[in-house]
Amino acid sequence: MGKRGMIFWIAVLAGLLSGCDPVTTHKITSTIFDGVPSMPTAEEYCRDYHQQAVAEEREAEKRQQIAKEKATASIHPPYEEKRCNDCHDKNTDSGFIAPRKELCFVCHKDFLQGSFAHGPAAVGDCLACHLPHSSSYPSLLKTPKDQICWMCHKEPRVALGLHAASKDKRLLCTECHNPHASNARFFLE
Ligand code: HEC
Ligand code: HEC
Ligand code: HEC
Ligand code: HEC
Ligand code: HEC
Repeated sequence: MGKRGMIFWIAVLAGLLSGCDPVTTHKITSTIFDGVPSMPTAEEYCRDYHQQAVAEEREAEKRQQIAKEKATASIHPPYEEKRCNDCHDKNTDSGFIAPRKELCFVCHKDFLQGSFAHGPAAVGDCLACHLPHSSSYPSLLKTPKDQICWMCHKEPRVALGLHAASKDKRLLCTECHNPHASNARFFLE
């Protein structure tokens, strides 16, 4: 290690030992050396180091966030394939190839299977829970799956004890209930 390199590291060490307090730093560095050489002072070094560390941390957080969003995002195949006219039609009143409440059933034929259908799905209001193009969440949902039911069901449960227990166990509503329809009451699966 050259002399400059050595001085640099001693100054850094002095800076770290003194906790980047400018007065102490100056005392230590001027005790060790007669003249502090022309390089970042310990306090400048500390400040730069701190700024760099913060910037790096932010970068890492951003990368993580993007990776997470990509992993959970979804895109509707006809939208991705730019088959816009499979749904949109400028020549109709609704602007779509079918009235809004029937649009999804055009392709999702015989979608509601079972003798009990869930209110909004039964009336074709698929867009109460889904987005038509793409979403930051799986299954084109408007919210994360563990929040979707709460958009409407704020009423106190009749089956209170059971639901309190499933909340404690952090079960998703969709682990027991089908969001669309089923052959059992309450669309239990
Ligand atoms: C699966 C059917 C479907 C496909 C395919 C589709 N859209 Fe849509 N689009 C919809 C529905 C339904 C709405 C209305 C959404 C609402 O009102 O909440 C909509 C709304 C829109 C709007 C209004 C603004 C908005 O985003 O809400 C634009 C613009 C649009 N679509 C453009 C496109 C383009 C461009 C494509 C092709 C790349 C496309 N759509 C493909 C169903 C579709
Ligand atoms: C033009 C045909 C078409 C129309 C209209 C259509 N879809 Fe789809 N949709 C598809 C295809 C194809 C797939 C992929 C195969 C599948 O899951 O059936 C799909 C898949 C989906 C998925 C699953 C996405 C995933 O990531 O798992 C959802 C949710 C969905 N559609 C909702 C809707 C809703 C809500 C509407 C009405 C606004 C609608 N679709 C209208 C063709 C269509
Ligand atoms: C009450 C909210 C809600 C409504 C309304 C709703 N969905 Fe869904 N949908 C969901 C949820 C939640 C999932 C994800 C299920 C899972 O992952 O367990 C889903 C998943 C889907 C899927 C992916 C495959 C599957 O069956 O799980 C399709 C396709 C779909 N929905 C289409 C529709 C169509 C078409 C309608 C309208 C008839 C509709 N949905 C109405 C909440 C809803
Ligand atoms: C867009 C509003 C909306 C969302 C979101 C929604 N629901 Fe519903 N739900 C309704 C309506 C409306 C009814 C019919 C009226 C009623 O019985 O309370 C209903 C009824 C039900 C019932 C039957 C209640 C009964 O007494 O027969 C169950 C079970 C249910 N929903 C579960 C769910 C689950 C699980 C989710 C999430 C996947 C969900 N709901 C999300 C609107 C919604
Ligand atoms: C461990 C399975 C399980 C989970 C998780 C679960 N449920 Fe239920 N739910 C049931 C059963 C079983 C019934 C029928 C209770 C009865 O017969 O009295 C029911 C009944 C219902 C009813 C109709 C009766 C009432 O109490 O209002 C609604 C609405 C409902 N659930 C919504 C939800 C929602 C919203 C969630 C998520 C927060 C959820 N459930 C999570 C099993 C479950």
